[in-house]
Amino acid sequence: MKNVLVIGSTGQIGSELTMKLRRHLREGTIVAGYIKGSEPKGALLESGPSEIADVRNAKGLTEIVKRYKIDTIYNLAALLSATAEQRPLLAWDIQMNGLINVLEVARLNHCAVFTPSSIGSFGPSTPKVSTPQDTIQRPTSMYGVTKVATELLSDYYFHKFGVDTRSVRFPGLISNVTHPGGGTTDYAVEIYYAAVKGEEFVCPIAAGTYMDMMYMPDALRAAVKIMEADPWRLIHRNAFNVASMSFDPEILAAKIREHIPTFTMRYQVDPVRQAIADSWPDSMNDRAAREEWGWRPKFNLESMTIDMIAHLRGKLGV
Ligand code: SER
Repeated sequence: MKNVLVIGSTGQIGSELTMKLRRHLREGTIVAGYIKGSEPKGALLESGPSEIADVRNAKGLTEIVKRYKIDTIYNLAALLSATAEQRPLLAWDIQMNGLINVLEVARLNHCAVFTPSSIGSFGPSTPKVSTPQDTIQRPTSMYGVTKVATELLSDYYFHKFGVDTRSVRFPGLISNVTHPGGGTTDYAVEIYYAAVKGEEFVCPIAAGTYMDMMYMPDALRAAVKIMEADPWRLIHRNAFNVASMSFDPEILAAKIREHIPTFTMRYQVDPVRQAIADSWPDSMNDRAAREEWGWRPKFNLESMTIDMIAHLRGKLGV
């Protein structure tokens, strides 16, 4: 991995991954791909080249790949789960038509490809606790349908054409930099903003709903480490379970209250998000990732909470 195109560089993962890659791969060129209306700003804009990179435009992608001699593509363009339920055809267009464009460009130009999968690739018939690496994947959301298809198509391109596709199934990602948007796990980010601002949090997910979550620094390390892993050690490719913590809203609120004792929360459950959350695992088993490429998270709920609150206090000036 030397010259990298990050598609979706201004999004939840991309905004931080692009900066991490620029620090990590000093010799290479990291191109921040974006779509009109979400242009990069500040350090993201100033620290390297940026180009319009719409996954639905294969010709445009090819031009960037050739111009910058791209060898690795992080394909982060996606609608998250709740938005994908509202706009299923757009989700399909971006996640599937976009993916096949990316894979074709990669095949013709010899690029490796990372397209994230998710806890959303599982469904109600999946074992909920310690969800195995290889298990039933019959998701009931459009987001999940596209994520399973992403895993299958990425594996197909590896086996059929030798395209070096690899990926992970991300839990809900928690960050203090760029907001997610339209996801089922977004509450676990929003709750910290409310707590730090001294506001009551209205939780859209019911008490007792467990989901896997991960702090963004761990997610970024996973995204880089999997692409640098020794290919000969990889038995799986698309996509590895990666886990670090699992909690429900009550556990999260109680942990925040240890640091901000005045914090309050009440529930107003969103039926769309709740139905999605109920169909997802409580906690994934990530043994395959640990064994095949040495995955190991650094943050747990306690250390993430301390770090989130400290960063948000600085960012929000409170
Ligand atoms: N965070 C995503 C969502 O909630 C799941 O991968 O949609």
